[in-house]
Amino acid sequence: MSKTSLRLLAALDLLDYAHRLADIGTDHGYFPIMAVTTKKAKMALAIDNKAMPLASATFNVTKAQLDNKITIALQDGLENLPVDVDVVSIMGMGGKLISSLLDGANLNLVRRLIIGPNKDHYELRQWLENHSFCIIAERFVRDQGHDYQLIAAVHGQMHLSEIEKQYGPYIIKECSPLFRNHIERQIALLSQALSVTNDLQKRISLLDRITILRELIA
Ligand SMILES: C[S@@+](CC[C@H](N)C(=O)[O-])C[C@H]1O[C@@H](n2cnc3c(N)ncnc32)[C@H](O)[C@@H]1O
Repeated sequence: MSKTSLRLLAALDLLDYAHRLADIGTDHGYFPIMAVTTKKAKMALAIDNKAMPLASATFNVTKAQLDNKITIALQDGLENLPVDVDVVSIMGMGGKLISSLLDGANLNLVRRLIIGPNKDHYELRQWLENHSFCIIAERFVRDQGHDYQLIAAVHGQMHLSEIEKQYGPYIIKECSPLFRNHIERQIALLSQALSVTNDLQKRISLLDRITILRELIA
C-alpha cells in the first residue's frame, strides 16, 4: 500500500483540522503522517493492536522525523482515548468491525469521525444513525482497482434511506463518473446472474435490485 494512495488522500480531504488525531488500526502509520505533515493535525496517535504493524509505523514516523508529534500506541481499538483527541479515523476494516470498535468508546469529546470501511457500509451507516452521528461529507474513490467510500461524520441526527445506507447520501447526490461506473458494473453483474436463472423468486429480486440501481444513476 502506498502512502500516497488516492484513498488516504480522499480521507485527508475529509479532515478539516485535528488538535489530536487518533488513527485506529494505523498499520504503517501513513494517515497520521500525512495529516501531521500537511498540518491538518497538530499531533496524532497511531494506534494498532498488533506489534508488527506498529513496528512499521514506528519506522515510518521516525523516518519522517515526526516522533515528537506522533505517538505510537499498542492497544485495542478506542480504549482509553486521551481527552484531547478531537478527531478519530478508522479505515481499512469492515464496517461491522469498525462499528464494534466505536461501540465500546467514549466519543463525547470526539468532534469528527473519518471512516473508510472496506465492506459492510450499510451496517456502518446504520450504526452512525443509531448512535446520533450525522454524515457531513463523503468521497467515492477508485484506488488500485478497488472502489472505496470514505465518510466524515459529526454528532447529530440523520435519517438515511436503505439505498443511502449502502452508498451514502453525498456519494449518491454527487453521482460522480466513478460512482456511475461502479453502479453500471453492479448492474452488469446482476444482469448476468438474471440471464442464467429460471428461479422466479431470484429473478424478481434481481430485477428489483437492477431497477433500484438504474434509478440511482438515471
Ligand atoms: C488493513 S489495515 C488498515 C491500515 C490503515 N488504517 C489503512 O486504511 O490503510 C487494518 C489494521 O487494523 C488493525 N486492527 C485490527 N483490529 C484492531 C483493533 N481492534 N484495534 C486496533 N487495531 C486493529 C490491524 O492490525 C491492521 O494493522
